[in-house]
Amino acid sequence: MKNLAGKFIVFDGPEGCGKTTQTHLLKHRLEQGGMKVELFRDPGSTRIGERIRHILLNPEHQEMSMRCEMLLYMAARAQMMRELIIPAIKDGAAVICDRFVSSTLAYQLGGDGLIGEEIGSVAEIAIGGRWPDLTIVLDMPLERSSKRVMPKFMLPFPDDVKTELAREMTKDRIEQRPESYHEQVRRNYLQQAKEKPDSYRVVNGEHSAEEVAQEVWTVLEKHFS
Ligand code: TMP
Repeated sequence: MKNLAGKFIVFDGPEGCGKTTQTHLLKHRLEQGGMKVELFRDPGSTRIGERIRHILLNPEHQEMSMRCEMLLYMAARAQMMRELIIPAIKDGAAVICDRFVSSTLAYQLGGDGLIGEEIGSVAEIAIGGRWPDLTIVLDMPLERSSKRVMPKFMLPFPDDVKTELAREMTKDRIEQRPESYHEQVRRNYLQQAKEKPDSYRVVNGEHSAEEVAQEVWTVLEKHFS
């Protein structure tokens, strides 16, 4: 897997698909093999990006328009690209990112009439033309993935802990959208993968974390060999 040095791999998919777990499992496996690995999350990872993330996900910001939302995701990404991803790639690290432009093409597509070409043009500016070498979409039916997106206050904690968690951890602004929206998001991911078979792979996220990690590994071996 030494040929992952300087490569840029994205994990993406609907909420609850297991991508965050998979990014950590891959990082761990590559590091065990002696590789330098950097893991980032989009939106976020930089000081500015985390602030933008907070604005984006705050459930109080219901008036935010889809174009504003799209541009804020891109702004956070532009900063992450410049501050973290490009330097890490130049440094020869394997760069893993939890979400990227593929998320915007799934979540913001169609909102306020946004079309893929428009999002693509803004992305080109935001990321300076450095697209991921591979995007792995973790796919599963919504009824499976949505079960994993549970507000933390519904988990079995004592009441005082629950109250504290409820204040901080209600579903975010995007998670609160209706089921039909999330169904469309899933279809948008699958459509991207269909349109760009050279740079996307779809992995079934329904199996155990270890099985999915093994499938991801096989996909990476084939793609980068
Ligand atoms: P996360 O919780 O997986 O980090 O993602 C944050 C939320 O932001 C999630 O609901 C998906 C959403 N999102 C978009 O709508 N567009 C984007 O471009 C990105 C990166 C995330």
